[in-house]
Amino acid sequence: MTLLNDDNLLYAIDQGAAALKAFIGDDVPVAGIILGSGLNPFADTLEDARVLPFGDVPFMSVSTATGHKGRFVLGTVPGTGSRVLCMQGRLHKYEGCSGLDIAFPVWLMAECGIDTLITTNAAGAINPTFNVGDFCIMRDQINMTGQNPLIGRSPDLIAERFVPMLGCFDADLRAIAREVAAVEGISVQEGVYLALTGPSFETPAEIRMFSAWGADTVAMSVVEEVIAARHVGMRVLGMSLIANMACGIEGSDPNSDEIMDVAVKREGDFSRLIAGIIAKL
Ligand code: HPA
Repeated sequence: MTLLNDDNLLYAIDQGAAALKAFIGDDVPVAGIILGSGLNPFADTLEDARVLPFGDVPFMSVSTATGHKGRFVLGTVPGTGSRVLCMQGRLHKYEGCSGLDIAFPVWLMAECGIDTLITTNAAGAINPTFNVGDFCIMRDQINMTGQNPLIGRSPDLIAERFVPMLGCFDADLRAIAREVAAVEGISVQEGVYLALTGPSFETPAEIRMFSAWGADTVAMSVVEEVIAARHVGMRVLGMSLIANMACGIEGSDPNSDEIMDVAVKREGDFSRLIAGIIAKL
């Protein structure tokens, strides 16, 4: 159920940010991390972890997607001494969430003083040179969800609505991610990420079209979060786990069980990669 609208957004941000600030306390986390499908276990690796269900934050929608726990987890990444605020689960348009609902937690993080967003998901590879199990650093994005969280009057009162999107994924963070992956021996690609609403998967004809457009990966999340984060000046790193080849690539016909299986197998490397990146922030 969507709780936000253009009329209550500023009040909702005040209320939501007060709840999140009370949860976080004075020590601002070095990053907010949104954990996508199957990547939730990273939050379970945090030390001194504390949990705040999305439902305890005023005006925040709750997660309904499979494997998305729908809660904030605050804790220290082992071996780094750095605190992060994770979203164990996210909100998607296919659950009925609006652009405002999806942007809301990102705006709350910024209100709490968090200046870096790491957003992650499982994605299908359109680029045939990518392999299932690789990670892919987002270099750029194509928003085909048909929604933009900045539509309306209120987002423009939070910050300027005409947000430049050149370099929406921070070049320094991408370099750090590549460096950590090399040190850890984890296979990473870099590419253009395209998002649709889902929940149906794509057809082979759609995937051929997206390939011609220059998209390397495809999934059903992230782009609204990136727009919201750039809107309030956060720097952003986007990272996908390649959970499957996109529909029609090498005869693939993706399904959600296959995606979760790959995510579970790659959980350990994902946690090492994110921990290595956090250590360098
Ligand atoms: N398509 C859309 N969303 C996805 C995919 C895909 O192939 N894989 C994981 N999420």
